[in-house]
Amino acid sequence: MFDNVRHMLAIGVILAFGTSIGARAVGQMHEGAVGDAAAPDESSGEAGDPVERGYDSAQGRRLYTTHCSACHGANGEGRPGTFPPLKGSGVVTKDDAEKHIRVVLDGLQGAKAGGVLYASPMPPFAGILTDLEIAAIIDYERRSWGNHGKLVTAAQVAAERLRSR
Ligand code: HEC
Repeated sequence: MFDNVRHMLAIGVILAFGTSIGARAVGQMHEGAVGDAAAPDESSGEAGDPVERGYDSAQGRRLYTTHCSACHGANGEGRPGTFPPLKGSGVVTKDDAEKHIRVVLDGLQGAKAGGVLYASPMPPFAGILTDLEIAAIIDYERRSWGNHGKLVTAAQVAAERLRSR
């Protein structure tokens, strides 16, 4: 009987401990932990760039779906003449991500994306998304739909944000 009580106390401690870790983890990664395990891992292990870190592809996909896919499409193909494709985009696949980061922070209007002039503007996201969220979206775009751009960090987004126009 006494043993049972101790056993239950131990379980209680484990549960409480586990929950507090879970709560902290949720803030960091949202559903990323579970999603990542299931997602095809396109993120880790670049041949030729062995030190490149991975990224949270599940969070990137979720944020892209919420904020970008209405215009650029779930498959990154955009809508011809109306919204530019991100699949194969020079901005998205270029190693130097400065332009990619700037477009997401500031939006874009009257530029020629891939040589095409788009009538509607791209909205700015600097006031809506954190550096970490923007990095996750950018990395998702750089590793989806056959794209293979170099990954970015939240620190790069933060630095670009500080350099504001
Ligand atoms: C309301 C529609 C809309 C939404 C939402 C939107 N975009 Fe755009 N995006 C555009 C348009 C239109 C352009 C082209 C603007 C121009 O060339 O002047 C563009 C251009 C871009 C470009 C440059 C492409 C190139 O090849 O030059 C990138 C990168 C981009 N968007 C990423 C994103 C990301 C990331 C998100 C989500 C955080 C997003 N967009 C959300 C409409 C949108």
